[in-house]
Amino acid sequence: MATLHLVDHPMIQHKLTIMRKKDTSTKDFRELLNEISMLLGYEVTRDFPVCDVEIETPLQKMTGKEITGKKVAIVPILRAGLGMVDGLVSLVPVAKVGHIGLYRDETTHKPVFYYCKLPLDIEQRIVIICDPMLATGGSACDAIQLLKDKGCASIRLMCLVSAPEGIAKVQQEHPDVDIYTAAVDTCLNEHAYILPGLGDAGDRIFGTK
Ligand code: PRP
Ligand code: URA
Repeated sequence: MATLHLVDHPMIQHKLTIMRKKDTSTKDFRELLNEISMLLGYEVTRDFPVCDVEIETPLQKMTGKEITGKKVAIVPILRAGLGMVDGLVSLVPVAKVGHIGLYRDETTHKPVFYYCKLPLDIEQRIVIICDPMLATGGSACDAIQLLKDKGCASIRLMCLVSAPEGIAKVQQEHPDVDIYTAAVDTCLNEHAYILPGLGDAGDRIFGTK
């Protein structure tokens, strides 16, 4: 079973509370998501292997540590996942970025695929899928399946707010994919929105309705 990592650092909780408020501006929402994404990324990369490397400081030789192993690909689920990319890229500047376009059908709440562009060597990379909202889990599961069909074997899912329903679906369909989230909320409403949630993440990031 995949591990659920609840990243409840006080700085993240504080920033998330501001994001949830209905009167928080688009500018502040975007900036806070960027900041939280970098902090979440810190946990997502916590188990990256390191190796010894001999270096010289201005004063003497020493053995330092360097990240080794597979390279990273960041894959946002469009649109809202785009709001998490800059924060992650500031943490892992050499990462390549792929894009998967999915939107939820308003009636069925099922994801509809519309775009995919991935690094050519995606199957050789540790993939970090990012999307602020894990609601029914349909979008995340489809994105994970698409990446597995391309040969990816090391996939992590980074979210901001998750519903128990979405977590259960990802854990059932993709038990090899660890989930990192800043909050596990109560449930979904009749429109499959997360309660209490923060509303429509894409609309709040981009100022649309
Ligand atoms: C939102 C969100 C996720 C999805 C989560 O995107 O960013 O991708 O819904 O819901 P699920 O877990 O039930 O699939 P949306 O479809 O609203 O598209 P947008 O990001 O373009 O607004
Ligand atoms: N997508 C969102 O943007 N918000 C939700 O609460 C659920 C899906």
